[in-house]
Amino acid sequence: MSTVTQHSASTPSQTSASHLATDCIHGGQHTDPTTGAVMPPIYTSSTFVQESPGVHKGFEYSRSHNVTRFAFERCIASLERSGLSEESERTCGGFAFASGLASIGTALELMDCGDTIVCMDDVYGGTNRLLNRVRKRSAGYKVVHVDLSDATKAEAAIRQHKPRMVWLETPTNPTLKLVDVAAICAQARAAGAISVVDNTFATPMLTRPIELGADIVMHSTTKYVGGHSDTVGGALVTGSAELAERLRFLQNAIGSVMGPFDAYLSLRGLKTMHVRMERHCASALELARRLEKHSKVAKVVYPGLASHPQHALASRQMRLDGKPAYGGMITIFLKSGSGSGMAESRRFLENVHLFALAESLGGVESLIEHPAIMTHASVPEAMRAELGISDALVRLSVGIEHVEDLWNDLEHGLSKV
Ligand SMILES: Cc1ncc(COP(=O)(O)O)c(C=O)c1O
Repeated sequence: MSTVTQHSASTPSQTSASHLATDCIHGGQHTDPTTGAVMPPIYTSSTFVQESPGVHKGFEYSRSHNVTRFAFERCIASLERSGLSEESERTCGGFAFASGLASIGTALELMDCGDTIVCMDDVYGGTNRLLNRVRKRSAGYKVVHVDLSDATKAEAAIRQHKPRMVWLETPTNPTLKLVDVAAICAQARAAGAISVVDNTFATPMLTRPIELGADIVMHSTTKYVGGHSDTVGGALVTGSAELAERLRFLQNAIGSVMGPFDAYLSLRGLKTMHVRMERHCASALELARRLEKHSKVAKVVYPGLASHPQHALASRQMRLDGKPAYGGMITIFLKSGSGSGMAESRRFLENVHLFALAESLGGVESLIEHPAIMTHASVPEAMRAELGISDALVRLSVGIEHVEDLWNDLEHGLSKV
């Protein structure tokens, strides 16, 4: 039992009553009471002095309490509209981790040994690997993959398997399928399951799953949250006081917390997230439209195109400041001759230069990759085939460079296919 002798320097000056663009900068933030610093300092101290055993200023040990991490956790909770009081870090609904996968691993600990999870079929390869190649063995989970973009299939699976957790990802990585968050989370809730939404691709600028009925939102903050490809991290946000209590316990008990330097970079990333997302969305839409007309491209998958099978849902569920906005990710299938499309993909990927051939996404710089060989190599080949992750599939993360320079680069690469 410990006693807090002084308020722990965390009363925010701003709550989440403002526009998102404002909350990116001020959500859950306050000026440093000691120095007046506008940006929270990076607190590196691993431990904190106590006046008497158990009597301290609210900070004991940095795995449990870190000022810089708390500042980031409050801001992302504010952007995800967690709705939990921001009066102090202890009642905030945000939790930051060492990586996106560390946050997924911690969320999974809400389940018990032998529980069932109904999981979107097309999820990030690492999520698939953690569930099927680790937790099935170590925790005896039953993992049921279902195409949750189909509400009928989702309902049947939830009714049949009575899961403890339903795991959504939308838009999915890499086939950009959408899940109707409100519909599936309502089904999960009715069945007594915890719903978790991986919101990495949409970001809270476009979709706020808690407002749509989700229990927990998850982020790989490595991506759009950090926004500059210079940090690895993850986050969970909940609007439920009970789940917040359990996640706080698990975060500390498991210990895969975000370090103070990464928390600083992630908070700094959030400050420009609104303006970055405007540019990501506008440029991706423009490039997707042009790619759709290109003779070397068989198919473009982008939620903003009328050809996307869930364009109507995307226009409803993905909105920036009230207007449809479809994110910065594009998936294309190259036309292949008689082969699998691998030769065409290689020629294309070897001949783009502004688009860096690299894993990851969501940074200010444009990235391009081949999921079958790179990000989704850990997904079993049969499952990749079923999901349509073929050798002709290339994934683009559209950065915030000038759109004409990006187009010239893509055209050059395609001319070599
Ligand atoms: C949608 C999605 N979720 C989770 C992750 C895992 O995040 P991290 O690489 O930060 O562990 C990724 C990584 O690419 C991702 O794209």
